Amino acid sequence: MSKRRTAILISGRGSNMVSLIAAAKEPDFPAQIALVLSNRPDAPGLATAKAEGVPTAAVDHKIYAGREAFEGSLQKMLEAHRIDFICLAGFMRMLTPSFVERWQGRLINIHPALLPAYKGLHTHERALADGVKLHGCTVHYVVAEMDAGPIIAQAAVTVHDHDTPATLGARVLAQEHVIYPLALRLAAGGRLKIDGNRVLGGDGPEQTLVAPGV
Ligand code: GAR
Repeated sequence: MSKRRTAILISGRGSNMVSLIAAAKEPDFPAQIALVLSNRPDAPGLATAKAEGVPTAAVDHKIYAGREAFEGSLQKMLEAHRIDFICLAGFMRMLTPSFVERWQGRLINIHPALLPAYKGLHTHERALADGVKLHGCTVHYVVAEMDAGPIIAQAAVTVHDHDTPATLGARVLAQEHVIYPLALRLAAGGRLKIDGNRVLGGDGPEQTLVAPGV
């Protein structure tokens, strides 16, 4: 099977992007990272991707009058690079329902919480404030609603007594770097079926990861 030409969309440092680029170097990986695209021309992740030899582009959302115009340019860039699969990795722009619809089933995201808990921002602060004992991260297919959509993989970490948002967030991030490549392998490999809100066909340790004590 030919490799899926995959774009990683970022807005910042791109540590998840790095884990995906590394995984895609494995010969049997079903996705090839064909483009790293940022909505912020100064995103540090762009230089990292360049250093890895991955093509990069920036589509600066600030110069467009509205979301449709911004996404029109995004779509043109994706087409120019013959992209057929997208990973959002710290991409901090909401996408319109029509863009999401166009990429349905080929657009995935990572979120730093165990969805459906803690959608939105400041997830680690909110988890600590609520006193939860388990926190984590989720890779999911993107739907029009923010931080919703069928879940591909999740990893959980335990919350420690002395955790701060920074220490908890660092342990979650380490797990993000593990599950995002696993999820992309499953999704790009064509092994998953979406049934309503459920993702089927990824049973097993590669889909859920519990990291107690981490
Ligand atoms: C990651 O923790 C990712 O889960 C989060 O932004 C960070 C990006 O870090 N994404 C979101 O909050 C999306 N709603 P990275 O640039 O180092 O990958």
